This record gives sequence, C-alpha cells and structure tokens, in this order.
Amino acid sequence: MTEPTPHLTVVDHPLVQHKLTLMRDKTTSTNSFRRLLREISHLLAYEITRNLPMTTKTIDTPLEPMEAPVIEGKKLALVSILRAGNGLLDGVLELVPAARVGFIGLYRDEETLKPVQYYCKLPDNLQDRLVIAVDPMLATGNSSAAAIDLLKQSGATNIRFLCLLAAPEGIERMKAAHPDVPIVTASVDNYLNDHGYIVPGLGDAGDRMFGTK
Ligand code: URA
Repeated sequence: MTEPTPHLTVVDHPLVQHKLTLMRDKTTSTNSFRRLLREISHLLAYEITRNLPMTTKTIDTPLEPMEAPVIEGKKLALVSILRAGNGLLDGVLELVPAARVGFIGLYRDEETLKPVQYYCKLPDNLQDRLVIAVDPMLATGNSSAAAIDLLKQSGATNIRFLCLLAAPEGIERMKAAHPDVPIVTASVDNYLNDHGYIVPGLGDAGDRMFGTK
C-alpha cells in the first residue's frame, strides 16, 4: 500500500479536472490540447506558488503611501524537462513572466534503461532561487529524479516539481530519491503499463502537444 505523501498536492479544482478530461479524450485536437494545457498550467502555477515567501515595499498609491506585499527574494527559476516540459513551461511563464528559465534534456539509454543527459542549460545562482521543475508526465520518475539530481548538483536547494499527471510509481520514485521536493499535479492515475505509459493517462504528452507520432 502506498504511504501518504506529505509533499504531494493534487489540484482537485473543477476547472482543472474538467480541462484535464478534455485533454485525456483522444479525439481532442492538437490545437485544443495545447490551449487546454496552457490554461491548466495557469491554475497549477497558481497552486505551486501559493506559499511563496512575501515581504513588503513602500509604494505611493494615488491616495497615500502604503507598505504593499511583494514576493521576496530572487526571481524564480523554471526548468523545463524536454521536450514535453515546454508545454507546461509556456503557461507558467505567462503567470510568472520575470522567472529565469532553464532546460534539461534526458534520453533513456536502451541498454541500461538509465536516463542520460544530452542538454543542460540552467539559470545562475540556483542556490538563491526557488526552482520549479516542470514535466507534464511523472511516469517512472526516473528522468524526473535525474533532473532533480542535476538541479541539486548545480546548487539548487529549494525545488518543487510540477506535473499534469502522475503515476503512483513515479511518486514513489521521487519520494525515495527526493523527499524534500514537493510535487503538485492535477491527478494521480492508476498505474504504468508495460510501455511506461500512465493509465488511463492521455497518451504521449509530447506527441499530443506537438502533433507528432
Ligand atoms: N510520457 C508520456 O508522454 N505519457 C505517458 O503516459 C508516460 C510518459
């Protein structure tokens, strides 16, 4: 039996769940899938940034000066795990437009089945930033855990993980490898099939958002 994950948030909001149902439907077009993903990313970004540390600054409204709340600290870093991460990234960036952006590319070695890095470009001063890693599908969790390894090796200490769908197997893998990394998702699905697809899932997220096969 799966232990409860204190750092797992499932965004059980009617708008998120409705849009997710439309995305799962295999008759949904690439165009609609992309639009829905962007809309859901806004709602998920709202949730994952909910408890950012705040401070205040003095501003002048047209009526009087006030101490007004602002987000504390350095600009956030968003890190997309290629390629499907880019679909989530676009929507989150619309909500956090000043964020710094990084990319991590990993492929699976067919012999060892381990993730191998082929691209990594990250913002500087990761140790001073909240880093949000984005990948729509948390499936085996192998590439997500490897991406978080890379972020930690690059200095990040405050990391959150944002996905659209998660498999229980992926959550367990992340919990074992990175128990300090909170996960926000729209749904935890039933299981992973023999091909590594989340079931019921939505198919291959990259193919569905980019119209490839
Ligand atoms: N990646 C996908 O795009 N879909 C899955 O179901 C699992 C991994």
